[in-house]
Amino acid sequence: MTGWLPANGWQRTLEFGEGFPCPGTPDSVAAIRSVQVSLGDRSYSIHVGNGLLSKIGDYCRRLKLGERCVIVTDSNVGPKYADPLVRTLKMAGFVPNVVTVSAGESSKSLKFVGECFDQLAMKRLERRSFIIALGGGVVGDLAGFLAATYLRGIAYVQVPTTLLAQVDSSVGGKVGVNLKAGKNLVGAFHQPRLVLCDLDTMATLPEREFKAGLAEIVKYGVIKDAELFKRLERELDKILKRDANTLTGIISRCCTIKAEVVGADEFETTGLRATLNWGHTLGHGLEAISGYNEYLHGEAISIGQVAAARLSTRMLGFPEKEADRIRDLLQRCGLPVSVKLAPKKREALFDAMRLDKKVAQGELKFVLANAIGDVVTGQRVPDADITAILNTLGG
Ligand code: NAD
Ligand code: GLY
Repeated sequence: MTGWLPANGWQRTLEFGEGFPCPGTPDSVAAIRSVQVSLGDRSYSIHVGNGLLSKIGDYCRRLKLGERCVIVTDSNVGPKYADPLVRTLKMAGFVPNVVTVSAGESSKSLKFVGECFDQLAMKRLERRSFIIALGGGVVGDLAGFLAATYLRGIAYVQVPTTLLAQVDSSVGGKVGVNLKAGKNLVGAFHQPRLVLCDLDTMATLPEREFKAGLAEIVKYGVIKDAELFKRLERELDKILKRDANTLTGIISRCCTIKAEVVGADEFETTGLRATLNWGHTLGHGLEAISGYNEYLHGEAISIGQVAAARLSTRMLGFPEKEADRIRDLLQRCGLPVSVKLAPKKREALFDAMRLDKKVAQGELKFVLANAIGDVVTGQRVPDADITAILNTLGG
């Protein structure tokens, strides 16, 4: 056991062999940990550890899926990891094909959706067939959307290969693509049947992408788990060295938090799931005004989290030294914590934030913190207060 059992007891993290079946013998550096997302007949497992790619055939066989499957991947990840996946799937009796899209956010578009649909039809995918999303959040969101809509919905499996995708985007079933008008404007809720977070894929993940994933990990500490936050402060050096045991513990803890949130508020109706948007109001705005090519998502939400922490102090009396802790941790992760915006850019930022989904009657809404580990959603913040905080973020 990892020692964490929440009060309501419906979500916990198990170690290899304790409860959820893990096929094969663990030949990995770190023991495999498993987390269950509890959603009735749409429940699924998340497994975290080394050596999982080579076991995917066995895992999929247990799901009793059809023979045919398509691995959707991108031009960076496919050449590194698709072949071993194809081999293990064939050995398990599946008939896999690979569809590769260009790496990068531009693949999350209706143009690529159309092209991929044609490929799925050409590979003769049927109702019982399934898709495997092999890649980061871009591939996961695109492949999940294909699975949500092709033949009115087929099964899919997430094999996230970025840190951000392992702790966030592969879990929870939010899938979709971008429009010119904005990010993630077309989508669906469609839960995967399984999530496999193979730590071995972290070995090839570029440093900047790895650090961007840390921003989402810090987020989980702030919204739900003060102990996780302290652990990050304590163990950051090991995390930055990508130590397998440390990463397994941290990733599975984040997945446990996300599983708990999604299990309780799958469709973001009660406000609980909206806590995951901590740092995202300003972060999404920054991504938008820089044309989605200056900041990685995690970098933008790092700055967004510093802004949200400062706003929390101003609006809710969140202690300033706690806001400093958040900034300091993000900075130690190698993430940006300041931003200087010319007046025109500032105006554009407000416009972009208003176009985002987190607006009510024209007023911007933020997730704000009462304490590290305790946040509140839907907090309306007047423009003047946002401006005051932006004045302090100039670096
Ligand atoms: P990404 O998918 O673009 O991957 C980042 C880069 O790393 C890409 O160039 C990719 O080819 C490369 N890469 C991936 N894994 C690699 C590996 N193991 N080795 C070498 N290179 C590798 O970006 P991301 O940060 O993973 O995801 C961002 C996307 O996720 C955004 O579109 C965002 O909107 C979405 N997202 C979705 C959710 C959700 O709940 N659905 C949550 C957060 C973010
Ligand atoms: N990444 C935000 C969510 O899954 O709700």
